[in-house]
Amino acid sequence: MKALVLAGGSGTRLRPFSYSMPKQLIPVANVPVLEYVVRNVLDLGVTEIGVIVGDRVDEIRKALGDGSRFGARLTYIQQDAPRGLAHTVAIARDFLGDDDFVMYLGDNMLPEGIADIAEEFTTHRSAAHVVVYKVPDPRAFGVAELGPGGEVLRLVEKPEQPRSDLALIGVYFFTAAIHQAVRAIEPSARGELEITDAIQWLVSAGADVRASQYEGYWKDTGNVEDVLECNRYVLESLRPAVEGEVDDASVLTGPVVIEEGARIVRSRIEGPAIIGAGTVVEDSHIGPHTSIGRGCVVAGSRLEYSIALDGASVTGVQGLSSSLIGRSATVGTVGESTDRYRLVVGDDTRVEVAA
Ligand code: DAU
Repeated sequence: MKALVLAGGSGTRLRPFSYSMPKQLIPVANVPVLEYVVRNVLDLGVTEIGVIVGDRVDEIRKALGDGSRFGARLTYIQQDAPRGLAHTVAIARDFLGDDDFVMYLGDNMLPEGIADIAEEFTTHRSAAHVVVYKVPDPRAFGVAELGPGGEVLRLVEKPEQPRSDLALIGVYFFTAAIHQAVRAIEPSARGELEITDAIQWLVSAGADVRASQYEGYWKDTGNVEDVLECNRYVLESLRPAVEGEVDDASVLTGPVVIEEGARIVRSRIEGPAIIGAGTVVEDSHIGPHTSIGRGCVVAGSRLEYSIALDGASVTGVQGLSSSLIGRSATVGTVGESTDRYRLVVGDDTRVEVAA
């Protein structure tokens, strides 16, 4: 089996972060989402991985390299524009050959892995095997209707009136039968070649298409709220490790990781929380459910349920919560005044202050 990992696309819902980085590289517990994806694929014993990349190819390559660090062989496949998930299968045709493959969306997090689903696919070896998850409002997803034995009866991409509460999650197993379906479909109303339509084409042609309902934790990390929630979940199973320096006036409670070269001075770190390499935390209270990236400075601040990306600095700000702070961003105070704010806010940024 091979794998096709999707790391192209535009990431409009993750603006402003996606202006400066591919959304698949947003860190969860200080590890890019895409790295969890590659590791889950490797856990299946699959080492031949095609990675679809768009115009952010350089950063993706920098993050994953040639795969040897993970024991994988990565083949980068360039997509000229986000023309849809089925389009990625079409342009990967040479790489995939006639092999079975798992297609895995590079922004989908399944921290418990996908081994059980892979086993269901290899047991039945249907033409396509999709994975569904019960959600309260499936309108932002592909939606599946299933028969009593888990056979797929109908799939619709982002329907206004969903006929079930089963959303398609971003892991699909295919035999080579999918290639004919991909060639047969037309672009959708949003102008993309939808993998949902290609699988529906197989269903309509009478092919065996099955689904399993995923019982583990799943998040499409497509927006800020979901990234923070996923970070909370992943941090819950953090294994404590202190490789940096913690002075005598500081207190660590719960599972806390202090990476190499980080310094904690007169501060309280409430786990689960992770402090990245080379970061300095002084006179602050961090956590729970907080990840601070590498080379950050946090001073005189209180920060919980948040993520700060590499190089960020937070000084003199109490009560930051549910925040995602971008790379090398600065959050601070303005003089002694309590009734004024000074903001340098980039495009599509969100700032919320007390009323
Ligand atoms: O997350 C699950 C959902 O993913 C499914 O329920 C939907 O049926 C499926 O269409 C997909 O919907 P999204 O609208 O969330 O897909 P998105 O545009 O976010 O793309 C998913 C991933 O694939 C993302 O990492 C970007 C990448 N991608 C996307 C497109 C359209 C590409 O590499 N190339 C593309 O052309």
